[in-house]
This record gives sequence, C-alpha cells and structure tokens, in this order.
Amino acid sequence: MFSLENFDIKLDTELIGRNFIYCDEVNSTNSELLSNKHLYKKSGTVLLAEKQLKGKGRKDRNWQSAKGLDLTFSILLNRDIVAELNINHLNLAASLSVALATENLYQLRTELKWPNDVLINGKKVSGILIETTVKGSNIERVVIGIGINLNQLVFQGEYNFPPTSLRLETGVNINREIFLAEILNIFEELMINLQTQPETIIKDWRSKCKMIGDKITITDGEQSKKGIFYDIDDNGYLLLKRNDIIEKVHFGDVSLR
Ligand code: BTN
Repeated sequence: MFSLENFDIKLDTELIGRNFIYCDEVNSTNSELLSNKHLYKKSGTVLLAEKQLKGKGRKDRNWQSAKGLDLTFSILLNRDIVAELNINHLNLAASLSVALATENLYQLRTELKWPNDVLINGKKVSGILIETTVKGSNIERVVIGIGINLNQLVFQGEYNFPPTSLRLETGVNINREIFLAEILNIFEELMINLQTQPETIIKDWRSKCKMIGDKITITDGEQSKKGIFYDIDDNGYLLLKRNDIIEKVHFGDVSLR
C-alpha cells in the first residue's frame, strides 16, 4: 500500500504533486488525465495508479508493471505552464529527473538513451511517454507519463529492450514514496531552470548519453537509417552523421550496430 503520509513528508515542491490522485486501477494514467479535462484541471496534478490495465508505451507498445511494486504515474501541465516551454525539453527533464533520483538515493550510475529511456547496466529501468492535446494551433494540455520498474523481480512478455528493476540492480527493496517524491522535487527544479537556462538541461542530459559517438541504427516503423550518433541539438533532436552530412532526427528507436 502506498503511504500518502510518507510521500507527503518528502515532497518539497510548490506545484508538482501538490494535487495528488491515487488510484488502485486505471487503464492508463496518461489517458485518464488527458481525457477528463473537466475532472483534472490543475497544472502539477499527479495521478499514480497501482495498476494500469492498458499501460501505454511509445509507438503503440504496452507498458507492463507489477501491481503495488513499481511506479506508474502521470504529471499534468496546462497551457499556463507550458506556453513558454519546449515539449522536447520537458521530455529530457523527465528522464533526467528519474536518472538523478536514482543516483541521489541509490548511488547507481544511470545512462540515458535517446529519446527518453533510463538505463542501468545497459538495461531499461524507466520509460516516458509525453502526450498533448491541442486547441487551435496551441498546446492545451501536456501529460508526462513515467513508468519505473522499482521492485519487480520477474519480467514476462515481450520487451523491445532488455528490462531491469532498481530492486534487481541494488538487491534492496525500494521505497516507492521516497523515490516518487525525489523525482517530483527534481522535476520541478529542472522545469524552473528550463524557463531561463534550457541549455543546462541539454548539457546534463548529453553527459549521461553514452551512445553519442557510436555507430547506430535508428528505426521508425519499417524505415531504418544507419549513421553515427553525432549529438543532440538545442531542441533535444538527435543529430545523425551520414556520409559527412548531419541530419536531424525527430523520432525513432536507437540501437547500436
Ligand atoms: C516507453 O518506454 O515506451 C514509454 C513508457 C511509458 C509508461 C508510462 S507508465 C505511466 C504512463 N501511463 C501510460 O499509459 N504510460 C506512461
């Protein structure tokens, strides 16, 4: 059982997670926040579910987690907050928050895999799915969905990348309340920094992306491209070097070749 009291003691934010909704089961925390705009209104609202029945991953994949053992939650940001922000930067800030929380609390070295996976020892511990609704030509609502394998010991089903959990990597049981509060504390701080100095987030993200400089394949559906992972640009797009030409890549799965 998630202890709201233990979570609240550790939460040190002004906005993020101050409106906190705890559910036993939902289809997807992202879908729940996105589709009920009259129910969930406040920027910073966090919805945590013990179990998602239809947890969504990137590219229409599933996100599976073990009831009561892991963290599956979404953060809602409305236009009041995101008007001045770049969604790609929020994406980078979310994965960086998970990586920094892991390092602060468990002294584990993490790696970031473009666009937003968090890896430990070459295996995936967390994935992020950002979804938006649009009104006219403006983004109206942004939902940042974060799934983290905390205490899961067995992984069943198919994974496009080998999974792991923090429990498997540390050998100790992970306190979900402390971990969630730490992520939200860091995310709020990064979000504030994004308003004035987005370049620091790019720099910090880049320093944790070990694939930069490697020969990679980027796959998007049926299409794939090979090249060298040259860098990420100021907007967080991947720069792929092919035959001395640098191409900007907006989507795709990166694998080493
Ligand atoms: C990925 O790596 O493909 C992204 C996974 C994102 C999973 C999280 S769990 C909470 C939120 N709700 C969802 O349905 N998906 C995201």
